[in-house]
Amino acid sequence: MKGITLPVLGIAAIFATSISSCNNQKSDDTMETKKGITKASFGQADGKEVFLYTLTNAKGTQVKISTYGGVVTSWIVPDKNDKKSSIVLGFDSLSGYLAKPPYFGALIGRYGNRIANGKFKIDTSEYTLATNNGRNHLHGGNKGFDKVVWESATENDSVPSLMLSYLSKDGEEGYPGNLNVDVRYTLTDDNELKIEYSAKTDKATVVNLTNHSYFNLTGNVSNTILDHTLMIDADNYTPVDSTLIPTGEIKPVKGTPFDFTKGEKIGLRIDSVKGGYDHNFVLNKKDSSLTKVASLSDDKSGRTLEVFTTEPGLQFYSGNFLDGSIKTSDGKAINQHSALCLETQHFPDSPNQPKFPSTLLLPGQQYHTVTVYKISVNK
Ligand code: GLA
Repeated sequence: MKGITLPVLGIAAIFATSISSCNNQKSDDTMETKKGITKASFGQADGKEVFLYTLTNAKGTQVKISTYGGVVTSWIVPDKNDKKSSIVLGFDSLSGYLAKPPYFGALIGRYGNRIANGKFKIDTSEYTLATNNGRNHLHGGNKGFDKVVWESATENDSVPSLMLSYLSKDGEEGYPGNLNVDVRYTLTDDNELKIEYSAKTDKATVVNLTNHSYFNLTGNVSNTILDHTLMIDADNYTPVDSTLIPTGEIKPVKGTPFDFTKGEKIGLRIDSVKGGYDHNFVLNKKDSSLTKVASLSDDKSGRTLEVFTTEPGLQFYSGNFLDGSIKTSDGKAINQHSALCLETQHFPDSPNQPKFPSTLLLPGQQYHTVTVYKISVNK
């Protein structure tokens, strides 16, 4: 893994003002829209106080982030008629998250996506992880980074920015090495949510960090995402077995329902993909520079989401397992395909796939990846 050194960050005072709770997926034009970052209590988990930060940019766009799971709980932007609503699934109270929804908005680690049979080797040492997805390991195990309380600090910066830190101890969920993780969320005036992931270990380990936001650009979960148009700059994908573990092949998307290179309505070919889309796309980018890899747009709202990343892969998950059993804070059922995820990542099961880009992190190396989600409105 390529080492990039991060500058030392100056941590400044936190503005401990309270904010009004904002009902996700609901229009709320009465919210405070002053540029900056505010902090409010969001309840308690693991005997620790949880905070909810609100990042507001000069355009009045607001992103709320909880220190529980590093969850993006809402991202409020206007549509083409200037009606504000959240484009991500989320709850307006901590209890929704403590009920363990499927990773809504959360930071995922130590290893995003699946590791076959919860086992991998580094040199001659074999490690056994929790098997929390059938026989496989998924998204860090029983208590991944999505279910822990992160330390937080804001920075004295002209751009609202939140630093979250977590020490994942040696042996946690079966992984080797004490891993110090820092994730910095920044909201720019160009309506970009930038996520910078950094980590260091004291023993050889595997790392694959991502964010699991579920997007619905209409801002209303009663609409599915099947009418959204998706472009993924990937000529290849990694086919999977029946348990969603890659077979190890890298196959062309051309002539298959996985071809999103030119932009396609998600609903057009979804029925010919068993179970719906839940696949890793092998991005065309050739290096670890920050590159645009996907865009998602919705005519109804006029909103477009662009995804930029330094990562080699993108998991497109079309919300297949959502089944209406979870409700939004205002009582709407979250049904199948009512939101989708675009998870930037290294490929699933890389620790067991010698041909995939490596996810190994050694002591002395710096893990550093960047992903940017950018929202714009076509009026
Ligand atoms: C990821 C996986 C999916 C599913 C969701 C959560 O995106 O790839 O298979 O587990 O998380 O439900």
